[in-house]
Amino acid sequence: LEVAEVATPESMRSLETRDRIRRNFDRAAVEYAQFEARRVFFRDLLAELLSGERELQGARVLDVGCGTGASTEFLLETVGTGGSVLGLDASLGMLREARRRLHGRATFIQMDGCRFSKGLRGAFGAVVYNAVLFMLPDAPGSLACARDVLKSRGAVYISWLEGAFVGPEREPLPQIVRRKGFSPGRHALSPWPGILQVLEELFEGIRVRQFPVRLAPEDFSLFYGMEPMSAGLLPALAYPDRRRIVEEFAKEWCAEGKFVEQVWYLASARKPEQ
Ligand SMILES: C[S@@+](CC[C@H](N)C(=O)[O-])C[C@H]1O[C@@H](n2cnc3c(N)ncnc32)[C@H](O)[C@@H]1O
Repeated sequence: LEVAEVATPESMRSLETRDRIRRNFDRAAVEYAQFEARRVFFRDLLAELLSGERELQGARVLDVGCGTGASTEFLLETVGTGGSVLGLDASLGMLREARRRLHGRATFIQMDGCRFSKGLRGAFGAVVYNAVLFMLPDAPGSLACARDVLKSRGAVYISWLEGAFVGPEREPLPQIVRRKGFSPGRHALSPWPGILQVLEELFEGIRVRQFPVRLAPEDFSLFYGMEPMSAGLLPALAYPDRRRIVEEFAKEWCAEGKFVEQVWYLASARKPEQ
């Protein structure tokens, strides 16, 4: 992975964050692939994001944060034989699973999702971020790269997690984490406030809608029990402890008959005509 060209305290912090997240995904790659095989979670999310989109057929698409290839596989089916997909991810562990899953049907590359425009300007008809953008240390920088690599009138598609709520009273998950004596993290919990503002600065024709996803306690445990997801929830704790606490939450909500509702946002926008 590239390092910052000019090392400032801010750029170093952002690289440290990226590398911490990358290592979490490296270690979780096999479990993530197993979770997706059982639950078909991320594929369904992308299917919802792209529902009704006709013009991706035959397109060249960039899948930013392609992970174990769940999004890439759906994109390959969507673009069809005339199109192609390039999957980009920071985590070699995740890319290894993606290559295993797709056997040469797509091209994969290890790259930072915040800085990827070099050599790719104007190369894509669409850029997709499925469950990725809100965990990037420099999301505005990433969206600026997306704009650069798009052709004129090319489209960007983004799904991001805006929050999670528990039970019929819809108590916010971070509030529960705090009430139980832990400090909640940012990823996947509190909204990253800038996405819409940055989209408005760089793109046009923005469309956004909410997509609620209901998780039974068992699914909550599988999802947030994974190393990177649990780091978003309980960042101050070491991993085995994070997983144990997630399992305790799930057990409690199972006994109380409570569900968790994640609120995802689905957005699309277009690069202005040049
Ligand atoms: C929740 S997964 C989503 C994967 C995939 N899009 C899917 O639909 O299954 C997030 C992915 O973003 C990747 N990621 C996180 N930070 C990144 C960064 N700075 N650059 C590139 N990829 C990153 C992780 O390695 C992980 O594979």
